[in-house]
Amino acid sequence: MCGIVGYIGKKQAYPVLIKGLERLEYRGYDSAGVALLENGAFSVYKKKGKVAELSKFVKNKNIKNFSGGVGIAHTRWATHGIPSDRNAHPHLSNNGDIVIVHNGIIENYLSIKKVLLKKNYKFKSDTDTEVLANLIEDIKNNAKVSIDEAVRLALLQVTGAYAILVLSKDEPNTMVVAKIGSPAVVGIGKGEFFVASDATPIVEHTKKVVYLEDREIAIIKNGKLRIKTIDNKIKNLYVQKLETKIEELEKNGFPHFMLKEIFEQPESLRNTMRGRILVDKGGIKFGGLEKFGKELRSLKSLTITAMGTARFTGLVGEYAFEELAKIPTKVEYSSEFAYRDASVDINTGFIAISQSGETADTLNAVKEAKRKNMLTLGVVNVIGSSIARAVDAGIYNHAGPETAVASTKASTSQVLILIMLAVYLGRMRDLSKAKAQEILKEMQRLPNLAEKILKNANEIKKLAKKYSKNNNFFFLGRKYNAGAAMEGALKLKECSYIHAEGINATELKHGPLSLIDKNFPSLVIAPNDSMYEKSKTGIQEIKARGGRVIAVATEGNREIKTIADDVIYIPKTLEILTPILAFIPMQLFAYYIAVERGNDVDKPRNLAKSVTVE
Ligand code: M6R
Repeated sequence: MCGIVGYIGKKQAYPVLIKGLERLEYRGYDSAGVALLENGAFSVYKKKGKVAELSKFVKNKNIKNFSGGVGIAHTRWATHGIPSDRNAHPHLSNNGDIVIVHNGIIENYLSIKKVLLKKNYKFKSDTDTEVLANLIEDIKNNAKVSIDEAVRLALLQVTGAYAILVLSKDEPNTMVVAKIGSPAVVGIGKGEFFVASDATPIVEHTKKVVYLEDREIAIIKNGKLRIKTIDNKIKNLYVQKLETKIEELEKNGFPHFMLKEIFEQPESLRNTMRGRILVDKGGIKFGGLEKFGKELRSLKSLTITAMGTARFTGLVGEYAFEELAKIPTKVEYSSEFAYRDASVDINTGFIAISQSGETADTLNAVKEAKRKNMLTLGVVNVIGSSIARAVDAGIYNHAGPETAVASTKASTSQVLILIMLAVYLGRMRDLSKAKAQEILKEMQRLPNLAEKILKNANEIKKLAKKYSKNNNFFFLGRKYNAGAAMEGALKLKECSYIHAEGINATELKHGPLSLIDKNFPSLVIAPNDSMYEKSKTGIQEIKARGGRVIAVATEGNREIKTIADDVIYIPKTLEILTPILAFIPMQLFAYYIAVERGNDVDKPRNLAKSVTVE
């Protein structure tokens, strides 16, 4: 949800910033802009559209050499004001002395704006960001303080969640970063500093980073980095080492990140399990949970919170926790848990699932769970992210960076982690060693089974072409695959813009069936499991009403070919693991339909990868 990048050092800032914006474009892509401090003044270039539009715009200006070694940049996901050149960041303050980029929302911007209007401040955009730029200018001029102090004093007046980067032309050797809620990372190079919403633009320059905590301000001044809080307390620097490799951030010959990430699943599943599966003992090793044995043993119920895909993986997890660990579990939207007065007790464990670890709704839910004294666990992919740092204990997915807006490899990894966690908690309770061993052995086959599905990608591509003209779709599944069906529908709608509903197959006859006709196809997940007969009945009911059906079925099932119009086969595995395999063909189906319809697959319209606003 908006990406911010900053550079201060001896290099030319412009190329560093543009490359950084490309890396962060997954966070929002309706407009982009750069501000450079050159010869004592700010040059600001901004453009509606993707970063490529901004690059083209700047290229057309035929600028021979950018002199500035200081600059900030932004790629936007609009909240206040439509996507336009005018509303694009960076925003200058009235006298042009201060420039700012901002990710997040200033909630009380209207009341601040009112005060500034009375002082004759003029506004060129509809954004909350420009209000903050002018507030900082006003404070700096009236209180006669440095830019970092002006930022600090301004933030004392501001409510909301944000990460900001600020420059002042009077202090060319200073860059100020601050955050509450939204993420910000400072990279420490040799005589240079990089700032970004996440570490991806920093990796190629330095491995040394400092993640800012909420209410912290980083002041980079005359080649030194200091951190203090908005309440003016000095903080120690906690420098961490980045593990991400630059190759992980490239497309490596695939036409889209989404396809690359789908094809990475055998490897990401392997990495999720690496060093954690102890078949001999029938156990799992989760280093991050070791200190919490006593608390985990005494859990009587679980609440899982997440949003989007992560919530659907939670729905699969719900069945696993109840079956393997016999722990009553419920899955909630993080956004609701954060605001409703959920009734929990000290023995209710809390699990937050988030690929990015930055989803504002989920972060709020974690804070609420902590306020309620629950033991908070995180299933997070991005190392060092806000949710990973906020929870009591966590399990990293190790799925590798996920760049496409549509989540794929992180989602299969999330399901796998949840089932592993169910085995882990089950073994602390009644789950037998033999049963655990059976599951763990089968888990280890998953990467190879995923490879087998991917070898069939061309068949799914043909099927996608056949169904690409439809405007509606149902995705249906039962039990473990009900959540999988919801995920399949979400994948299709976000990439292809086809209306798709994912529902528990049994619900069909309670209303949705009325929508079925020859133009309203359904994808039914129907592996050979405990629900197979019921799924078959569902398919028959659709067929009886003239609907077309694609079945996702177990290899070797010939019968299903006589009932469904088309069949996608997945290898045989344990019922509990089928959703992991079922996700993959649905991802491919959504991907190929989106390509067929000419959509920008990696950056679907109106969306952003990391939803850091509520
Ligand atoms: O980063 P998170 O896992 O917390 O993100 C949650 C959702 O925003 C995310 O899963 C979203 O639904 C994806 N675009 C789905 O592909």
